[in-house]
Amino acid sequence: MKMNHEAHIYYEEEEQTFHLQNDFFSYIFKVDFNGKLIQLYYGKKVTHRSSFNYLLEQSSRPMSPVLSEQHPFYSYDNLKQELPEYGRSDFRKAGIKVLQENGSEITDLVYQSHRIFKGKNILEGLPASYAENINECISLAITLKDELLQLEVILNYTVFADHSALARSTCIVNYGQEELLLTRLMSLNLDLPDKEYDWMQLSGAWGRERHFVTKVLDYGVVEISSNRGHSSHNHNPFVTLKRKTTTEFQGEAIGAMFVYSGNFLIQAEVDAYDVTRLQMGMNPESFSWLLEPGQSFQSPEVLLVYSNKGLNQMSQTYHNLLNSRVVRGKWRHKPRPIVLNNWEATYFDFNEEKLLSIVEKGKKAGVELFVLDDGWFGQRNNDYTGLGDWVENKEKLPEGLTGLAKKVNDLGMAFGLWIEPEMINKDSDLYRNHPEWLLHTPGRKASPGRQQYVLNFANEEVVTYLFNKISNLLSSANITYIKWDMNRSISEAFDGNRSSKQQGEVHHRYILGVYQLYEQLTNMFPEVLFESCASGGGRFDAGMLYYAPQAWTSDNSDAIDRLSIQYGTSLAYPLSSIGAHVSIVPNHQVNRLTSLNTRGNVAYFGAFGYELDLNRLSMEEFTEVKKQIAFVKEYRALLQYGNFYRLASPFEGNIISWMVVSQDKKQTIVGYYKKLNEVNVSFKRVRLLGLEPTIKYQLKGTSQKFHGDELMNIGLLTTDASSGQFQPSLGFDESVDFDSRIFILEAVE
Ligand code: GLA
Repeated sequence: MKMNHEAHIYYEEEEQTFHLQNDFFSYIFKVDFNGKLIQLYYGKKVTHRSSFNYLLEQSSRPMSPVLSEQHPFYSYDNLKQELPEYGRSDFRKAGIKVLQENGSEITDLVYQSHRIFKGKNILEGLPASYAENINECISLAITLKDELLQLEVILNYTVFADHSALARSTCIVNYGQEELLLTRLMSLNLDLPDKEYDWMQLSGAWGRERHFVTKVLDYGVVEISSNRGHSSHNHNPFVTLKRKTTTEFQGEAIGAMFVYSGNFLIQAEVDAYDVTRLQMGMNPESFSWLLEPGQSFQSPEVLLVYSNKGLNQMSQTYHNLLNSRVVRGKWRHKPRPIVLNNWEATYFDFNEEKLLSIVEKGKKAGVELFVLDDGWFGQRNNDYTGLGDWVENKEKLPEGLTGLAKKVNDLGMAFGLWIEPEMINKDSDLYRNHPEWLLHTPGRKASPGRQQYVLNFANEEVVTYLFNKISNLLSSANITYIKWDMNRSISEAFDGNRSSKQQGEVHHRYILGVYQLYEQLTNMFPEVLFESCASGGGRFDAGMLYYAPQAWTSDNSDAIDRLSIQYGTSLAYPLSSIGAHVSIVPNHQVNRLTSLNTRGNVAYFGAFGYELDLNRLSMEEFTEVKKQIAFVKEYRALLQYGNFYRLASPFEGNIISWMVVSQDKKQTIVGYYKKLNEVNVSFKRVRLLGLEPTIKYQLKGTSQKFHGDELMNIGLLTTDASSGQFQPSLGFDESVDFDSRIFILEAVE
């Protein structure tokens, strides 16, 4: 494999300095004379030199305890660190806390050794970025040791050559004689020398996931977290620190992404001397881990991305990295099938005949895959019953899944299935047989959510049971797609099989159980395309993408709301992962009427499909659906894998725009959307990006041609003379709220 760039890890023996560098960034730190790791720099690539000691800033600060009487200026309160320890002279947030038998949480982790090697190690049982060729990245493992406890900490770093990305994770091993309780282990600690940053998070709730939220960093702590047992709709495990002057296309931005689907914490603490400490890790509020003598613990991974060309370059780096080095298997880089899902078409109310009529119509329209959603199993006629009973309901499907899948296949479509393996209804055979598998705290009420309860995935027996059930299901019929749902947050977490000291492990063990089941199923069924889902986008994270290359982005399928959701999601995640379906109007979530054209124009920029009964469309609409499908088939490689640019934000204005450009820059598709109609307004242009200045592009459907530099500097003219106003008497097309247009530009010379 040909690498376009190089990655280096320099180690300067004399100064004990590490310089992790590729063509995009430098990350520099050193071992100090006391054996601690001191951060010196993270930012745009700088030339290597033998010493960066001038960056070791020290001062005598009142109230800061110092290293010793002989070192009156040397205080960890004022130094930037790789792994700050609790309870010592650094009073900021700690990277690690270990509770010992005597009650102390003080550690003294000191540099022992390090190893630099090509390639990247896998993280056992956890999703993580990976290498396919040892030359594409270079790794560093540093061992620190606490002599008193005989505790070792290994800090892992990988620099990718072709991506402005650094992977970090931490492993901890108890070589001592006593039991230790790990109560805090951040996967990332990054101390930046100033506080001139805006913090950008992706936040919301069910139905309005991943909206941009920006805060100005200042003294004190800013944080987002999840304690819900999944990464959550409320906050995504991703954050950006950007300079105040940074825009989509200019300026510095640092992204930190957690490759993890459980409870997390992201914090930025600005100290009294303007140092910004960014941390990311499992949420200590719902995490602790018992380390018995001889045991080890591996933290999930953080992917740090540096951009000096704005947010958009950061996003593109994540898109490429996730698509090529987190997503795995057959569907990596593959254009995704056009899906027809029956949820909003039928909800629980269906039988085989009804489904087949939807499938038949889908086939006529050119759909490739039918997904049977919730309601096909047990007594699942509403959401009070059936979860856990993964056996087809013969009243609805007399010939079972085998028969239905065959009929769907015979009609010329692939067959996909919805499951929610982590859940259980009390009204189910599974509960009647195994009430003890329901996750609950003894003596306390278990709180239902959507009438359902959670299975104890921290229990190996439960995971094994479900592996057998689901793998039998997948073997019993020709199922080539699985939508794996998770429809409630986790409360009253407790594992009766574990000791009191281990109860802090339950949430993490739960998610390890989920990963294990995903790993086993994806290994056994490598052809199957998995889509993750948690009441829409409640578990849209890089951890899931390692197993399921796409996710159902939101239960809100309204085109206008989807503009914000998909725009926000694209900050971190690639379009190939963003499940986007056209649904019926009035929309089922917000009751809004939008044109079929606009619904298609929004859903095109993602893993495209339909969430409706095509039989309910008029002839005219059906003809339009056929055209939409033909369009997606022609352009989906570009729509899902092209370089993506956000051009106009739904969080800022009435006009929203984005575009994709092919790798060779010969094709581009621009999506242009207007929320509300306006009267007598200005003409609008949208300046494109990423084109080749000298190439001439023809606007499809017209004879107009423009050079790339015209499109990027003058812009694409997007308004006709109606200026958006409703002027039928002048012969302009009817202009309405929620209008949109797609511009396709193709190189002609
Ligand atoms: C969740 C999903 C929906 C649908 C329903 C079925 O809400 O996000 O897409 O599958 O469950 O119950």
